[in-house]
Amino acid sequence: MRPRRPRLQNSSLHLRSIRDRTPRLRFPALRMLASLALATLGASPTITLNNGVIMPTVAAGTWQYTSDVAELSVSAALSAGFRHIDAAHDYCADGKTSDCSLHGGSNQQGIRKALAGSSVKRADLFITTKIPPCGAQGVSRDSCASDSISAAQKNLDELGVDYVDLLLIHFPPAGGCGPANCALLREQWKALAGVIAANKTRALGVSNFCISCFKCLEGANALVPAVNQVQYHIGMGPDPEGLFSYTKSKGIVSQAYSPLGDNTKELISGELVTSIGRAHNKSGVQVALKWIAQHGVAVTTKSSSAQHLKEDLDLFGWDLSDDEMTKADAATTPSGTPSFMCIA
Ligand SMILES: NC(=O)c1ccc[n+]([C@@H]2O[C@H](COP(=O)([O-])OP(=O)(O)OC[C@H]3O[C@@H](n4cnc5c(N)ncnc54)[C@H](OP(=O)(O)O)[C@@H]3O)[C@@H](O)[C@H]2O)c1
Repeated sequence: MRPRRPRLQNSSLHLRSIRDRTPRLRFPALRMLASLALATLGASPTITLNNGVIMPTVAAGTWQYTSDVAELSVSAALSAGFRHIDAAHDYCADGKTSDCSLHGGSNQQGIRKALAGSSVKRADLFITTKIPPCGAQGVSRDSCASDSISAAQKNLDELGVDYVDLLLIHFPPAGGCGPANCALLREQWKALAGVIAANKTRALGVSNFCISCFKCLEGANALVPAVNQVQYHIGMGPDPEGLFSYTKSKGIVSQAYSPLGDNTKELISGELVTSIGRAHNKSGVQVALKWIAQHGVAVTTKSSSAQHLKEDLDLFGWDLSDDEMTKADAATTPSGTPSFMCIA
């Protein structure tokens, strides 16, 4: 099925859950029916991107999964109610992160099987994938424009879909977005407008971009990136490097990856998140994810456990208090950066 052509329009970012839209019900039986309806619809709220495309706020990620685990995890995520799947060209079939042409292709081949085995209609799903920057993983600096189009098509082929909903440039070029790379980055961005025009993605975005990269892209064409996917979690403060206030002012949605930190249990079983969670009868993980969502940032989580995936979607219909938000805003661990590839 072909997507509708996205309209270019000013950004309107809103974060509103299906549960929030459910009228307050006085009778327990009706409340129970309403919750069942929520479970059926999938419990993810949505954000409207700057071209009018609607994106489910919470995505299930697939980084470091083999094809087999990606298949199982995406199947479990769809059953749990996730409608947004996050994939990439360099999440390889053997679980490595690399140029997947050397590793049996990407684990998107496993995601393809999960999609094929699911009863969820393509039109009800939101699929994000990524292509390499110019100069990396099969996209040459010399032929960045045409290689980028081929990389986008390769993702579609591996996923077994005609289009994705969001296509991201995974990183800035090595060395950042200063004068040595800016022209190249603009060339790649202009080439990707052709992918939208060919209806092979409904929206375009970036990942791991810092402010200098956005400044470089300004005026390259009429397209403003819809999303910037970056590392973001408790410990990094509410507005790391001033990036979120900058992107918000440009109508670009921020989306968190590694929302539980990198290689740490602090945001799963640490004192801060578990003590806050106790007051809401929620887990530490739910507090960590909720803190992100409550800052108006979309969330990409990941789990190979069906139970954890269900928990990771149960973020709406309850709120952290102002005091709890302030406490979590002030945390300085675990450390992280939204722009680790961005040196200029
Ligand atoms: N754009 C980029 O450069 C970039 C970089 C990194 C990641 N990403 C994307 O973001 C996604 C998420 O980031 P991430 O992979 O770093 O992982 P993460 O979401 O920060 O953490 C994943 C870990 O948390 C555990 N977990 C999840 N829910 C849990 C729960 N309810 N209770 C207990 N443990 C739980 C999972 O273990 P179990 O399996 O045991 O539940 C998993 O090992 C990735 O998969 C990828 O799609 C993008």
